[in-house]
Amino acid sequence: MTVERIEKVFLILAGAMLVVFLLALFYSAFGMGMHLPDREGEIVPTEVRNTPPFDNPGVREVEPGRYEVVVLGRAWAFEPDEIRVPAGAEIDFISTATDVIHGFHVEGTRMNAMLIPGQITRMTYVFDEPGEHLIICHEFCGLGHHLMYGRVIVE
Ligand code: CUA
Repeated sequence: MTVERIEKVFLILAGAMLVVFLLALFYSAFGMGMHLPDREGEIVPTEVRNTPPFDNPGVREVEPGRYEVVVLGRAWAFEPDEIRVPAGAEIDFISTATDVIHGFHVEGTRMNAMLIPGQITRMTYVFDEPGEHLIICHEFCGLGHHLMYGRVIVE
C-alpha cells in the first residue's frame, strides 16, 4: 500500500468513528433519555436544610416494598451515616451536598454518583441479599475526606 492509500484509509476510519460516536450520542440522549439534570433536579444550595425532603434526612417507606432514602453529604459525613433498608425492596436514593462536591459510592453495588451543591442526585437500587455495604466519599472534599463514610445495612 502506498502512503497516500494508507492516509485515505485512516481518514475514512476517522470519519466513520465520528459518525458512530455521534449516533451513540443521539441514541443515549433521545433513545435512552439520558440528559443533564433539569430544573426539577436543582436546589438552592444554601437552603438545603429548609427544602423538603432534605429538611428531614433518613429512610421512609413510601408504599409497600418501596422506600425513599434522603441523604445529605457534607464535610465530612453522610447524614444519616447508617441506612437500614429491607432486602428486595426498591430503594430511591435522593441526595445532595450542602457545601462542596462529595462522592457517593455504595461498595459492592453499581451505585456511584457525585453529590454536587445545587443539584439533586437520584438513584434507584434493589438490594437482593441482606448484608452490610460501606458508603464512601470518592471525591476529594478536604482534610477529612478519608473520614467520610457511612453504611447501608440490608436486613
Ligand atoms: Cu466528601 Cu470526600
